[in-house]
This record gives sequence, structure tokens and C-alpha cells, in this order.
Amino acid sequence: MQNRAWRVLGLWALAAGLWGGNPGESHPGYPLFKAYCWGCHHQTAEAFGPSFRTIASKRTPEQIMAQIADPEHTYRSLGYRRNSMPAFSDLNATQLKALTDFILSFKEMK
Ligand code: HEC
Repeated sequence: MQNRAWRVLGLWALAAGLWGGNPGESHPGYPLFKAYCWGCHHQTAEAFGPSFRTIASKRTPEQIMAQIADPEHTYRSLGYRRNSMPAFSDLNATQLKALTDFILSFKEMK
């Protein structure tokens, strides 16, 4: 019984650590980010792809939206030598906008 209580407490602390530190969870772009991007991009840490903070610091909304929808046609203009990102051409305009806003919300963060 006591063991179980510790386990529950441990899980709770883990969850708080994972979720508590991430700003912007109430943002409409957040669930899309978790579903489609999080495997390769993180908010403020570099992962397989650049962090959203890095992207936000140097790109316009147009560049970001174009890259999400059709990276095969944008990677060169963004300075990459090849494309490693899948196209998310099934996202609708509202979803693209939400994701782009979410990425740009990391612009001011230090
Ligand atoms: C399979 C891994 C992968 C997934 C999934 C992925 N990306 Fe990427 N993304 C990359 C990599 C790697 C790059 C860097 C360019 C390259 O090497 O192709 C990149 C580049 C980008 C860039 C341009 C970076 C710059 O320099 O401005 C944007 C914007 C971007 N990703 C947004 C997204 C969004 C939004 C999603 C989710 C809808 C997503 N990516 C999903 C791997 C991924």
C-alpha cells in the first residue's frame, strides 16, 4: 500500500515536470504540435530539427507556413542542403496558422 502511494506520487511528479515547464499549452497550436511535430522539434531545445525558439527568432510567418506545408520546396531557401522533414499538406489553413502562431509565440523567450 505504501509502495503504491509512492509510485502514484512519483508519476504525479513526473507529469508535473513534463507538463508544468512548457508554456503555451492552452494555445490552439499546442495539440497539433504534440501530434505532428514533437517527435522532431521541441519548444526551446534543439532536437532532430531546430527548436521553435530558434525558428521564431529568424523566420517570417510566411516562411514557416510554407515549410510546414511543402518543405521540399522551401528547404533550400532556408539554407538547408537537403530536406529531412515530411510535408504536412493535409493540414488546413486554420491548423497551419495555429501551428505558425504557436512557433512564433517562442520568439520573446530567452
Ligand atoms: C521527421 C522529423 C520532423 C517532423 C515530424 C517535423 N519536422 Fe520540421 N524540420 C525537421 C528538420 C530535420 C528540419 C531542418 C531542415 C531539414 O533538415 O530538413 C525541420 C525544419 C523545420 C522548419 C524550418 C526551420 C528553419 O530553419 O526555419 C519549420 C518551420 C518546421 N520544421 C516546422 C515543423 C512543424 C510545425 C512540424 C509539425 C507539423 C514539423 N516541423 C515536423 C524535422 C521534422
